[in-house]
Amino acid sequence: MDLSYKEAALKAFADKFGGDTNDVKCYFAPGRVNLIGEHTDYNGGHVFPCALTIGTYAAARKRSDRKLRFYSVNLDRSGVIETSLDDFKPLNEDGWTSYPKGVMWAFEKRGFRMDSGLDIVINGNIPNGSGLSSSASLEVLTGFIIRDIYGFDVKNVDLAIIGQDAENNYCGMNCGIMDQFASAMGKKDNAMFLDCATLNFEYAPVVLNDMELVVTNTNKKHKLVGSAYNDRRNECEKAREILAEVAGIKTLGDLSNEDFEKYKDAIKDPVVQKRAKHAVYENNRAVTAVDALKKGDIEAFGKLMNASHVSLRDDFEVTCEELDVLAEEAWKVPGVLGSRMTGGGFGGCTVSIVKKDSVEDFKKKVGEAYKKRVGYDCTFYEVSIGDGPSVI
Ligand code: GLA
Repeated sequence: MDLSYKEAALKAFADKFGGDTNDVKCYFAPGRVNLIGEHTDYNGGHVFPCALTIGTYAAARKRSDRKLRFYSVNLDRSGVIETSLDDFKPLNEDGWTSYPKGVMWAFEKRGFRMDSGLDIVINGNIPNGSGLSSSASLEVLTGFIIRDIYGFDVKNVDLAIIGQDAENNYCGMNCGIMDQFASAMGKKDNAMFLDCATLNFEYAPVVLNDMELVVTNTNKKHKLVGSAYNDRRNECEKAREILAEVAGIKTLGDLSNEDFEKYKDAIKDPVVQKRAKHAVYENNRAVTAVDALKKGDIEAFGKLMNASHVSLRDDFEVTCEELDVLAEEAWKVPGVLGSRMTGGGFGGCTVSIVKKDSVEDFKKKVGEAYKKRVGYDCTFYEVSIGDGPSVI
């Protein structure tokens, strides 16, 4: 956590909203990186994300009327956005405030009534559009603030479910549960092995010894709303319906690779068949990978990360030239155990496991090759795994 972001949020709060800042409370919710299990969450499969120490900070104070006022230090040009508790309209043009408003709407829908409005200042250090879940962290942060200020009786896992509801039904992005879950349930130095069909999960310590996680940003902005993400979901749903008939499964996450091979020809559309193949194989890959990590076999884990990227590139087709260049160049560097795209895809970041004494070499080689092949710079972050949301 970087408390200078809290200080900057407090200062902006005093500037924009004034009044007695003694009543202002500060909060933090993390972003996430997913280590393996991509595009499996909405297919009833497994994911393995961890919360990061970068995230979104807020300063908030309850009001005595029904007004809501929002200001983001990161999006200063949007200025103060004012609305009210009586003005929740899903899929309205609220700009960035559709995330916090969506969460308030999702609380109200569940019968949790906010008895008065709020002033909120947001300040985050997750690069926008990096695919490290800035929106999920903002949703979980809002839920956490509301629970704290209004005393609503909900658990952290509910904050994840409410955040996803807001994103699906208020913001119009049909995401799965992974990002909100990772932000709401994060634990320092641990990843979460989550079964998205049941929300059963376990923490698994990420012990990398002489290695570390490096996240590399393509700096290509990805925008998931209205993109091919929702198409992929629909294709997976088509496959699921067919396989439910012939193989008696409920979700693609129920299938072994062998059973998929046995039944796959029932899916006549070759594109839909490829999408389903990724969902099934990636789920089983995630299970195998977590097993390897638990046994301390980071080499095997890394190889499965590479295979995950290839599947996302060739079968699920959610990578892009920039992500492929980053992964391919990483695979060439000695000391890299594994590298793959992370998150929704179409831009955003890769995650790599790199030997500590190879990190400089990795940055130099991948950075130079990326610039040469893509034409602009990528950015490296040596990330740490952090806790879920908190009062700060
Ligand atoms: C985005 C979504 C998640 C998940 C990933 C892909 O991050 O928000 O729910 O589907 O893509 O694994």
